[in-house]
Amino acid sequence: MDCKELVEKMTLEEKCSLLSGGGQFTTKSVKRLGIPAMYLSDGPSGLRKQAGAADHLGLNPSVPATCYPSAATLANSWNPELEERVGAYMGAEVKAARVNVLLAPGLNIKRNPLCGRNFEYFSEDPYLAGKMAAACVRGLQSNGISACPKHFAVNSQETLRMHSDSVIDERTLREIYLTAFEIAVKEGKPKCLMSSYNRVNGVYGSEHGELLQKILREEWGFEGFTVTDWGGSNDRVAGVKAGTHLEMPTTGGDSDRELVRAVKNGELSEELLNLRVQEYINVLFDTTIAENSPKNFDEQAHHDFARSAAAECIVLLKNEDNILPLQQNTRVAVIGDFAQTPRFQGAGSSSVNATQSDVPLEFLKASGLNIVGYATGFERQGGSNEALLRQAVEMAKNAEIALLYLGLDELAESEGVDRQDMCLRANQVELLSAVAAVNPNTVVVLNGGSPIEAPWLKHCKGVLHGYLGGQAAAGAMADALVGKINPSGHLAETWAMCYSDVPTCDKYPAPEKTAEYRESLYVGYRYYDTSGVPVRFPFGFGLSYTTFAYSNLTVSDKEVCFTLTNTGDCDGGEVAQVYVSCPTGKVFRPAKELKGFQKVFLKAGESRQVTIPLDDKAFRYFNVKTGKWEIEGGTYVISVAANVNDVKLVGKIEVAGTNAPEPYFNLPHYESGNVRNVPDEEFSALLGRAIPESKWDRTKPLEMNDTFAQLQYAKGWVGRLVYKVTKYQVDKGMKAGKPDLDALFRYNMPIRAIAKMMGGMISMEMAEALLEIFNGHFFKGVGHFIGGFFRNRKLSKEFEKKLEEAGN
Ligand code: BGC
Repeated sequence: MDCKELVEKMTLEEKCSLLSGGGQFTTKSVKRLGIPAMYLSDGPSGLRKQAGAADHLGLNPSVPATCYPSAATLANSWNPELEERVGAYMGAEVKAARVNVLLAPGLNIKRNPLCGRNFEYFSEDPYLAGKMAAACVRGLQSNGISACPKHFAVNSQETLRMHSDSVIDERTLREIYLTAFEIAVKEGKPKCLMSSYNRVNGVYGSEHGELLQKILREEWGFEGFTVTDWGGSNDRVAGVKAGTHLEMPTTGGDSDRELVRAVKNGELSEELLNLRVQEYINVLFDTTIAENSPKNFDEQAHHDFARSAAAECIVLLKNEDNILPLQQNTRVAVIGDFAQTPRFQGAGSSSVNATQSDVPLEFLKASGLNIVGYATGFERQGGSNEALLRQAVEMAKNAEIALLYLGLDELAESEGVDRQDMCLRANQVELLSAVAAVNPNTVVVLNGGSPIEAPWLKHCKGVLHGYLGGQAAAGAMADALVGKINPSGHLAETWAMCYSDVPTCDKYPAPEKTAEYRESLYVGYRYYDTSGVPVRFPFGFGLSYTTFAYSNLTVSDKEVCFTLTNTGDCDGGEVAQVYVSCPTGKVFRPAKELKGFQKVFLKAGESRQVTIPLDDKAFRYFNVKTGKWEIEGGTYVISVAANVNDVKLVGKIEVAGTNAPEPYFNLPHYESGNVRNVPDEEFSALLGRAIPESKWDRTKPLEMNDTFAQLQYAKGWVGRLVYKVTKYQVDKGMKAGKPDLDALFRYNMPIRAIAKMMGGMISMEMAEALLEIFNGHFFKGVGHFIGGFFRNRKLSKEFEKKLEEAGN
């Protein structure tokens, strides 16, 4: 199909209309030219295709699909091959459901452990996140459909996610926040990519020409199309100019007409529009699903595969006295609500209507253990309940092992809202210490997609963490408990001792206009390792039922070779990690950075030579003076490690540099890594410009990109009332233990999104009229709203007619 020729045959209206959604998840077609519509669906942990009423928050049910382990979980496998297989299985379901684009993977960097969506993202490290994301893309696209990595870029908080401006220096942007996308794009070759809601240095993701055009297309060679996040389009014309193709969801033609107008008045050149349309339809034809391809999939086989995937992600966090694995017939008291009602996925747009959901207790009963009883132990949402606690303690007294299923509940972790703290609920900790007091042989199984403070660790001898392991996680965990599988997961993120140790703890989530990325490169282990802050579990940590020895290191600037031996008496998997440091360097950098890794499975007693390649990312840094990747010449230290704090082998090499000029002058906090309190002058020097105003101006009338949260300062009573109602709904949901995602979305969304999220019922003109009302011009606003309503109807009809006349 010659796409260029097709574009030439299209009318202006057809071209503009093709570039926006036809519904919540569908695009439009141009029937007369045989250009098909597409179906896009969430999301990272499995397919969420809504057959009935569709929404972008996972509120209404979707067709049954396999719920696989979430990205945060799969990253713990450190196994891109496994991830690729997950992608392939998931993609087969996507194709069977006749969905063309899966809105996955999510690969934002975990800047702070409280981001509500961290469970959907892979890691705090861009290299690991990028490798996993690229594998996911390859797996998904092996089915002919398209993946859609998201959210590009620097989307690190749910609070005010459609409004917040990420203020970040170029080096940090490149080295931390873009590198994951770079790897996903170059090594995965996604056909589609989703821009982020937030602004990056003042510009919305969907309008960011530097990101979408210069970096994504020109530098990385991306050849697909880009889509806005749902309702994330701001100025549609600016978006198309900057490199956005598809706007989602439908705005009922309002933004299409905006494009037509812009072409007619010369604001947007038709050549550029043609180019966008052409780039877009290239992918359309590439994701067409053959009519005769299967419309169903083997649910049981997919479930079984999901179980094996979950098994490889389980992390053994503690195993005092080798309490695990449990021997057959051990008398076990099972305690904790999560054993009966597991939490295996996060909430929001990623939530899958699982084909089945396995119950841990059932699998424990069938595991060969002698289950003496089950006690709920605690109220899920934290209420204190003496009776439940006493019952559990009694049961624990009479068992050899007390096995507690604890974790983060539904309220603790969800899209649309950041976590309040990093704690396990007090009633769970209370239960654990009460149980441990009567039975020292206490083992904890954890559920949850993000790090938790763990001062309670002293109360148990063993901890297995399944993260959010998907619908088949229960069986995998039972297998790990009895040693049928040997845990081989390693943490893909640091577990700080306590939240107050997190470098961004005082500034997260940013509450108003801007989120200042003052910590620069020092995200996750890059901070703790450099500034010597002790952590609970370091990045890359994971125990095993066996032991491994590392020996015989040789290094070059191309690869790292060593011997790995399984020195224990059972088979197992180890995650060997390669970190690079440049102690002689003049340009500040973290003490160690992950530049390679390999998951290695070895039989008991087996030895193997492991070779880990070093690629173009191993020694580079982004030089803000030359605007390019450069290499500092000098001696580099190569550490082979079992986690960032457990270096097993060290080698040194000399690397030739590119002799770039030094980019910085006197940045003491960045040189030491002590970035908790970077003064304004130093951050401004790093940024290379003045720090933009971070506070809202409460005195000025509100603007279209101000949020519902700001309506509390509105001059008009309607605005303040809307704020009160929304806030009431948000609080009510939180109190009830079930976040009201819809209300939360509204609370954090800008006023212009009313026009972007209502399926065309409200045009931008009408949203502007609402703004007038909110700003206290009630009658004027109502007049404009009514006028806008009729104008929108009339213009829509005229536009539809033009499309019909063209033959559609
Ligand atoms: C989320 C995206 C998701 C989209 C469609 C948005 O609110 O940020 O990740 O793909 O909705 O459901």
